[in-house]
Amino acid sequence: MLWLLSGHPACGGRCLAWTALEGRSRLVRVRADELRAGMVARLVAGGRIRSPAVERAFRAVPRHLFLPGIPIERAYHDEAIAIKWQDGVAVSSASQPSMMAIMLEQLALRRGHSVLEVGAGTGYNAALMAEIVGSTGRVVAVDLDEDLVAGAAAHLASAGIHGITLATRDGALGYRELAPYDRIVLTVGSWDVQPAWWDQLAVGGRLLLPLSVRGSQLSVALDLLDRPSRCLHSVSVRSCGFVRMRGLGAGPQTRRSLGVGGLSLGTEDDRELDVDALLRFLAQPGVDRPTRARLSAGDLWDGLGLWLAVCEPDVFRLLVSGADEHYGELSLLPAGLDGGTMVLLGEDGLAALVSSDRRDRKRGSRVPVAVRPYGPGGGELADRLVNYLGRWLAAGRPSAAELRLRVYPTGSSAAVSGVRELRKEHSRLILDWPETVP
Ligand SMILES: C[S@@+](CC[C@H](N)C(=O)[O-])C[C@H]1O[C@@H](n2cnc3c(N)ncnc32)[C@H](O)[C@@H]1O
Repeated sequence: MLWLLSGHPACGGRCLAWTALEGRSRLVRVRADELRAGMVARLVAGGRIRSPAVERAFRAVPRHLFLPGIPIERAYHDEAIAIKWQDGVAVSSASQPSMMAIMLEQLALRRGHSVLEVGAGTGYNAALMAEIVGSTGRVVAVDLDEDLVAGAAAHLASAGIHGITLATRDGALGYRELAPYDRIVLTVGSWDVQPAWWDQLAVGGRLLLPLSVRGSQLSVALDLLDRPSRCLHSVSVRSCGFVRMRGLGAGPQTRRSLGVGGLSLGTEDDRELDVDALLRFLAQPGVDRPTRARLSAGDLWDGLGLWLAVCEPDVFRLLVSGADEHYGELSLLPAGLDGGTMVLLGEDGLAALVSSDRRDRKRGSRVPVAVRPYGPGGGELADRLVNYLGRWLAAGRPSAAELRLRVYPTGSSAAVSGVRELRKEHSRLILDWPETVP
């Protein structure tokens, strides 16, 4: 028996204290197995796990061993658990299992694949991937921080998982030594598509990353069709919310504080905004235009909000932290610390989506919405926003899942068509909703 061989040094595993310890750890193992089976069953029932390979991996790898110090019950809840903070902001976490399952399905790993993960964190996702690619495949996982890599190595060892290459590295550079990869996956939010990922991905391979798209973060699976065009084209898009990349790929701030009332703008371009004028407009609300639409938080951020942000350069997320008495009503979302709405901003006013029934605010429920003009030019902007809302509803409420992207390196001369082009430092994103042209 293994525990006798590795038993208590003084007694060789025969004393009462050691036997009691062994008994307890067996109980913990049994309890963890039960909890894990429950978690997997819920992920399957919720449609997050869809393939036998991903299910097997979640059944095989004990998440609690990657979260030492966290009660095992919590380790098997469907929640992200922060493990490292800087200046009060979480910079590393064990991701939410349902999001991990969604991404592993998007990644479509096969036995024998070689995969690079940027954002090793606890090492749990690397362990799941190692289970899927098997002994003929290879998993390389990098993280920016040495302490996190050391932690991931310890967790993997405690789970008895060997053969994963871990390295402290800025993932914006990839890991050239073992390239090319069939899959490159980021488990950290990225503003751009870095040249190293293009270079280190095998032709026919897949890059999966949480990508910033005008204030939304989308988990985008992109296939590399051929080397000459370097075109990456999306095969799957989902909404997500990962901690942001630090280091070389950090990108610009996507949230700009307005300095009052917990207000900030969610944006990712460097556009100059006249914040004083915006605050002046907000002090001049007009009369609400009722609509027949009802929106949930998901509709707002991942449906209409994303759709508007893609079609209309003057649309922004206005975020409201806390329940500010002045601006709280601009929070279309149900209760929560961070709420907000979408606004259409013009030179002499703005228009915002607001809730027309402040009582109806259960999490996930759809609330009736109105459009409120602000400032002298708000009326015309409100008309435009009402019009957009009608077209989004008529198009069947398209959301992130319907969005299509093609990504080219900056400087590529490929002729492109699409609803919108976003230019980043290293990439050009061409966005489209093929079946629902706005
Ligand atoms: C959400 S956590 C990843 C969770 C991890 N996959 C797991 O299974 O526990 C994001 C990780 O990305 C790392 N990270 C941030 N910027 C990075 C960079 N430039 N290069 C590599 N890792 C980075 C963070 O340190 C953090 O550990």
